[in-house]
Amino acid sequence: MKIFREPEELQAWSRERRLAGARIALVPTMGYLHEGHISLIEAAKKRGADEIVVSVFVNPVQFGPNEDYEKYPRDEQADLAKCRDAGATAIFFPTPENMYLPHHSVYIVEEELSKGLCGARRPGHFRGVCTVVAKLFNLAHPVFAVFGQKDYQQAQIIKRMVRDLNFDIEIVVSPIVREPSGLAKSSRNTYLSQEEKEAALAISRALADPVSTAAIAAQLESAGLKVDYVECVDAETLEPREKIAPGTCVLVAAYAGKTRLIDNRVIEA
Ligand code: PAF
Repeated sequence: MKIFREPEELQAWSRERRLAGARIALVPTMGYLHEGHISLIEAAKKRGADEIVVSVFVNPVQFGPNEDYEKYPRDEQADLAKCRDAGATAIFFPTPENMYLPHHSVYIVEEELSKGLCGARRPGHFRGVCTVVAKLFNLAHPVFAVFGQKDYQQAQIIKRMVRDLNFDIEIVVSPIVREPSGLAKSSRNTYLSQEEKEAALAISRALADPVSTAAIAAQLESAGLKVDYVECVDAETLEPREKIAPGTCVLVAAYAGKTRLIDNRVIEA
């Protein structure tokens, strides 16, 4: 497995591989890899990628001033071993300094889908996500890139960015991976105490049989969680919908103690 730290090195290698006809898949991550990330690598393998590039970068630009950028868990050695075992062929560990040169002044802003949900509560978050993902696309030259459904709004925004900016890249969205308890896998689950973990189970339970957003919010509050939002939206446009019905997505953000957790459920037709 190749290990790249310099953006230019990854870019030169991936350019050559693309010219040689390789189908490159990109799996963008912030590291501290868990089964959810491994499932993205598996999805890339299944789709016949010749090269699977996993990027591991805690992107400072997508964190707000009072968020967990410093505290976000990091473990480079474990990530290396997990990528190797899962069959990734390259891993990219850039630094903030080599991703954002002095006077970096160009950002990508999606102006519609980012307005609500996490975008409303985390100003600038999706600007940071779109910017870093666009940079990673230019560095890794992927034919397709795999994102997790857990970050539902993010996946929709990236699809829109790809459409609107004519990136020649297919966006693959891979299902949420859950712990046996139902809790959606997340690197942030490591922040949870045992008690908070138990309270957090209310999220997947409520989403398993969603009746109304008010009922879900009540279930979360009675489990001791602090609701940030529970919303039902059109699964594609993310416009608010009154009723939970086929073609909608129910999204939840809630705090267990200080940890903000997100989850969602798409209501299939
Ligand atoms: O979903 C994430 O882990 C991040 O938002 C991403 C896509 C790697 C961009 O930093």
